[in-house]
Amino acid sequence: MQGTSDARQTMESQDELHGGVVRQRGNVMGKNIQEQNNGSNETTPEPNKELSPTSSKGSSVVLILLLLMVGITWGIAATAYFGVVDYKVLVGIKETEKVVTERGEPPVMSQDNQPSKEGETTNENMKTADKDERDNTLKQTEGKVKVKDTAQDPTKSKNSTPKKTKKPTTKTTDGTVPKKKKNPPDPLTSEKDIPILKQLREAEKLLKSKQAAKAKAAYQKLVSSNPESPMARFGKAESLFQQAEQERSNKLLQECIQAYNEVAELATCPPALKKKALLTKAERQTFLGHLRAALLTKTQLARDFPNDEKVLNQLGVAYLMIGQNDKAKQVFETVLDIHPGDGFALVHLGFIIKIKGDWMKSIEYLLPGVTSLEEGTQEGKFYFHLGDALYRTNRTKEADEIYKLGAERGLFRSKFQRSLYNVERLQSRPFWTPQQAKVVDYVKKLEKNWKTIRDEALKMMDVKKGLFVNEDENLRNTGEWRQFTLYQRGKKDAACSRVPKTCSILEQMPNAVGCTRGQVKYSIMMPGTHIWPHTGPTNCRLRMHLGLVIPTTGDGVRLRCADDIRTWEEGKVLIFDDSFEHEVWQQADTFRLILIVDVWHPDITKREKRTLTPI
Ligand code: LMR
Ligand code: MN
Repeated sequence: MQGTSDARQTMESQDELHGGVVRQRGNVMGKNIQEQNNGSNETTPEPNKELSPTSSKGSSVVLILLLLMVGITWGIAATAYFGVVDYKVLVGIKETEKVVTERGEPPVMSQDNQPSKEGETTNENMKTADKDERDNTLKQTEGKVKVKDTAQDPTKSKNSTPKKTKKPTTKTTDGTVPKKKKNPPDPLTSEKDIPILKQLREAEKLLKSKQAAKAKAAYQKLVSSNPESPMARFGKAESLFQQAEQERSNKLLQECIQAYNEVAELATCPPALKKKALLTKAERQTFLGHLRAALLTKTQLARDFPNDEKVLNQLGVAYLMIGQNDKAKQVFETVLDIHPGDGFALVHLGFIIKIKGDWMKSIEYLLPGVTSLEEGTQEGKFYFHLGDALYRTNRTKEADEIYKLGAERGLFRSKFQRSLYNVERLQSRPFWTPQQAKVVDYVKKLEKNWKTIRDEALKMMDVKKGLFVNEDENLRNTGEWRQFTLYQRGKKDAACSRVPKTCSILEQMPNAVGCTRGQVKYSIMMPGTHIWPHTGPTNCRLRMHLGLVIPTTGDGVRLRCADDIRTWEEGKVLIFDDSFEHEVWQQADTFRLILIVDVWHPDITKREKRTLTPI
């Protein structure tokens, strides 16, 4: 499992890749946001203006980003961060139906949302995903994406307030002015709304000017007097959401979910509004971490709109988010049967196939999906997995092109630095000195005690002890690579008791053992091993390697990071940033043993150390 941290990124990143995608298409609001950002031209988006990784373009994503940016914590946001940003499914995060408490919650998700331990998982991906690398694929959004908070502005919603264009008056051939044609009815409006259109407009003004409580009261009044008006109920739901955001209240969010449901249940509800209400409801449910409930909502939608690709794509995403990848696969296949070439379905299907390990086949979907430039396809995770699939099938030049393109489009920090969970402002370089990394003391401690650290590991190397476990992140091209984890995500593993001296040395390094975005582990690699080029999940850590047993026979052992190749020395620490592409060759005659110690990037603040979601 070495691969873990990186692995996850590698292909795993694949998983990671799940990130933001989630809400794209079906998400009406998200769509609007993207349209605004892209100048509302879906077919020819300007790459630079595209939403970055989070592409999610969902209003919740916008909200989450805003919260992250301003450092506000909201229980919902914390939950949503995971729920929305990645496909839990793929990443092995357990669903929770628990509602996060209101206000004042630490920005950490509830335990229930943490990736579950082996055995508790319910799907194949979860079982195989390495805990460290697991989220890797998720798209990182921190600091990277700047999205305008327009999601809540109903004026920006094409569907809610379609613009009426004034047609020039034409005269008939006999010179008379033709009878005024009636405007086509707004597909979102019902007959039951007509008598109160004026009042609805008044209430909408309140909503637009962010007077959520007043808007809610106005809509509530309309609901009481006109209980069959779908628009009144929809407005009430929208104002509840706005108020929930303003007050950071999960309780209001739940009321809002109920209100959307009431819209959809009205016999008088026009189909277009029903679709919009239920898609929005599902989005809010996802935001709350109620993934199964969101799936139910989307299942219901798919029954009503069985040929609607947006609805089906959203259903596929819902399955992905709870780890039912096979079901998701079927749904995306159905979309492609009905709408061949649908970009969103292509990238998602390609993603599923890729993480199952069929590189060749995944390219058939990922490549046309990514090049379609359709909404929801411009995600780092898709570029990441496509590049990886191309590389592993010997199409290395094309892989390079895809990575370059991903970097140009703002999905990666550079063609080499492809981590997806990034804090944008951090300085970066492939290899670091202890001074640059601000770990001079740590390096001294490790180098002074290297023999103790080595000897404890050597005693534990017996395979029967079961401490060194195989890398299972699919990072190995050839050979054998095992690791023994002591800390991960800032938590000490019980196995520390097997190497007590080493762990007590490590305990003196809070920026290492407390690094919630890293691990500490022994890594042993056998001769004949080649590790595919891969990328770690985050730029928030640096990776120290303490050489313990370093063979120099044969062609030796080498580590490439970006375009710099180095090797290890016994008793010496090597520091690199594993968010850059790296690759390892073990071509010596005997095993190589190192201790990997991740440490917070020196530019990471105290607050970030506390609040960044663990990886
Ligand atoms: C990595 O961190 O990906 C590798 O360099 C680890 C190792 O054991 O060489
Ligand atoms: Mn790695």
